[in-house]
Amino acid sequence: MSLVEKLMYEVEPAVRVSGGKVTVVGTGQVGMACAFSILTQNIASELALVDVVADKLKGEMMDLQHGLTFLKNVKVSADTDYSVTAGSKICIVTAGARQREGESRLSLVQRNTDIFKGIIPKLVEHSPDTILLIVSNPVDILTYVAWKISGLPKNRVIGSGTNLDSSRFRFLMSQRLNVAPSSCHGWIIGEHGDSSVPVWSGVNIAGVRLRDLDSSIGTSEDPEQWTQLHKQVVESAYEIIRLKGYTSWAIGLSVAALAQAILKNTRSCYAVSTLVQGMQGIDKDVFLSAPCVLGENGVTHVIQQTLSEAEKAQLQKSANTLYEVQQGLTY
Ligand SMILES: NC(=O)c1ccc[n+]([C@@H]2O[C@H](COP(=O)([O-])OP(=O)(O)OC[C@H]3O[C@@H](n4cnc5c(N)ncnc54)[C@H](O)[C@@H]3O)[C@@H](O)[C@H]2O)c1
Repeated sequence: MSLVEKLMYEVEPAVRVSGGKVTVVGTGQVGMACAFSILTQNIASELALVDVVADKLKGEMMDLQHGLTFLKNVKVSADTDYSVTAGSKICIVTAGARQREGESRLSLVQRNTDIFKGIIPKLVEHSPDTILLIVSNPVDILTYVAWKISGLPKNRVIGSGTNLDSSRFRFLMSQRLNVAPSSCHGWIIGEHGDSSVPVWSGVNIAGVRLRDLDSSIGTSEDPEQWTQLHKQVVESAYEIIRLKGYTSWAIGLSVAALAQAILKNTRSCYAVSTLVQGMQGIDKDVFLSAPCVLGENGVTHVIQQTLSEAEKAQLQKSANTLYEVQQGLTY
């Protein structure tokens, strides 16, 4: 009789509740921030990590496992072999090169597309019902690439998109108004990056639209220059990379919120990258961020915002730029 048998009488073999498994591919700064946020917020019942650097991967796995005493009993596993990911409800992909100081997100594109060719088919092979949540940059184009390579329906391929940009915007708003970020409402949509679009017409606190208080908000005529907030959002990733080398905590928390909405079928609305062909006058098959309702099927609905002609034109311009980059890719 084994020690376990001496210690415990087995009534029924233990099974883990299925359906709550999350995989994180790429255990760099962003992947580990995602993993840590998901663990500490008790979002998943199982967490699998994959990377190509075996030692670092094992080290990260052990480090997380040693903290489980203080958390819920989540199964944490890691391997360079994708069989460890089998049965994942969500696969979060953060693998790939990150921006160098001053480098734009778009310039990473072919390098990370090549990496995706080796990752996405293996994820789908082991978890055919999974939802892919893409974080690697340039996130909108790589979400398109993942959609194409995976063959999954569009509702199950999601980019983390401008959820982070929107959060940065709401934080900056909160600093000006001294109201909590969660009570400051504003949406950044479009490309995660340099051409993102702030929807000034909807910026509000408790339903009071700042535009109704001052019609110049978000324009160059505004004496208080609220447009600076969006400028700061666009520049903030570059600034953080210059200061600490990478960004991690906010993207980790933002991705955990998306994972929670999917796994727990909360039907919450987030700005994520989705196939926007046919919306807001966009005729190209590109992924851009729009407010989406998230649930266990991934993106179920896209909120149709009332946008100004200038905002629509900006989205269409981003769509054309991304489309041209996509045309030059081999995947
Ligand atoms: N979408 C967003 O809002 C957002 C925010 C921050 C960073 N990012 C992006 O996330 C990505 C990761 O950034 P980071 O700072 O964690 O970089 P990092 O260099 O710290 O980590 C990247 C990890 O990917 C792994 N990797 C490389 N090739 C792989 C492969 N073929 N299979 C599995 N793993 C592989 C590396 O070993 C490394 O551990 C970058 O593309 C970055 O631009 C996106």
